[in-house]
Amino acid sequence: MNKYRVAQVGCGARGEIHLDGWLKNGDRFDVKAVCDLDQEKAHRVVKARNLPAKVYADADKMLADIKPDVFCFSTLPNVRLSMVELAVKHQVKALVFEKPMATSLSEALKITELCRRHKILAAVSHQQKYLTSFAKLKSVLDAGEIGKLQRIDVSCQAWLAQLGTHYIDYILWANGGKRAKWVVGHAHGKELLANHHPSPNFTMGQIGLENGVRAIVQFGKLSPSYMGKDDFWKDNRLTAYGTHGYVWCDTDGRWGTFNRTTHGEMITAEGERWEIQQRKLQEFFAKDLAHWLDDGAKVHPCNIDITYHGYEILEALCLSAMEYRRVDLPLKQSDPYDMFARMRKDLPECPELPPENSR
Ligand SMILES: NC(=O)c1ccc[n+]([C@@H]2O[C@H](COP(=O)([O-])OP(=O)(O)OC[C@H]3O[C@@H](n4cnc5c(N)ncnc54)[C@H](O)[C@@H]3O)[C@@H](O)[C@H]2O)c1
Repeated sequence: MNKYRVAQVGCGARGEIHLDGWLKNGDRFDVKAVCDLDQEKAHRVVKARNLPAKVYADADKMLADIKPDVFCFSTLPNVRLSMVELAVKHQVKALVFEKPMATSLSEALKITELCRRHKILAAVSHQQKYLTSFAKLKSVLDAGEIGKLQRIDVSCQAWLAQLGTHYIDYILWANGGKRAKWVVGHAHGKELLANHHPSPNFTMGQIGLENGVRAIVQFGKLSPSYMGKDDFWKDNRLTAYGTHGYVWCDTDGRWGTFNRTTHGEMITAEGERWEIQQRKLQEFFAKDLAHWLDDGAKVHPCNIDITYHGYEILEALCLSAMEYRRVDLPLKQSDPYDMFARMRKDLPECPELPPENSR
């Protein structure tokens, strides 16, 4: 069995989770080095794990010295393309990085094309599809218990570039990877366009998928809430409706279904909470990367091609909102490629509702 050498940039909150994902697959990955501009942080994560890894402050130097098979970077969204260019320069076999994959469609396209051209196996961390609640939803769908899938609804309390990117990816996953044909969208609220995960405060829309399934999405400040205020980041739900019932799952491990096998009853279940599951998810994510590296036909469920399509949908929601039109996919080169810059300039001001209705 091959063992792959890993070098990782970013030792923040998510960086630590990625690191533990590699370490939990110690038979498949060998973490050779970590890198962070914050050297104290980098030394702390290595020491806490008793890891015999080198510590760097410069990603380029780390990659030149280590020549890893796998390059993982877990940085805030402003650092993406420069790291992918380093992956190309140092000829890594696989690249793992965080959502959102970019902050503009032009950046997302450049990243995707670089990975394709240089045959880098790239995967983006939309890892909630490994949750047990998601696995339950998929098993109900695959067993045909809700009949023929017709509609998928998703809502997230957090905004488009935070949780929207995850849940758009999960729509594609739940619908068997079928692509979107068109998108219509609404967006308002400028405050979060200045966030390091730039987005309108609220985005909603409808996505027409190629197999006739429709998806309805809501992200941000007006989305329905299913949990308490303290659970803001977990307050996300995907519901799939079919001809004979429906099934839903959430980030916090719960799921529910009403279908032709439940004899008129609504069945719900609590799974392991997010805090317990989130580290395991990265373990599964890393394991699937090892399988993909072993055998190129075992494509990772978070591969860059499906991620890019999700990102295209995300930007198409904004483009539709700004131009009051249906946007057909794939987006064309003539479509505007930096929606958030355009929204900062042209989206009208829209004061938020009073606190009880907003966050
Ligand atoms: N997939 C998920 O479930 C999930 C959950 C939370 C956050 N995230 C995403 O993870 C990403 C990182 O979030 P975080 O909370 O870990 O951020 P963070 O700020 O805690 O960590 C980022 C680290 O990267 C380092 N860094 C930045 N630029 C660098 C460079 N050029 N060279 C070396 N080090 C550099 C910073 O010093 C910092 O320590 C974000 O894009 C966020 O959206 C994903």
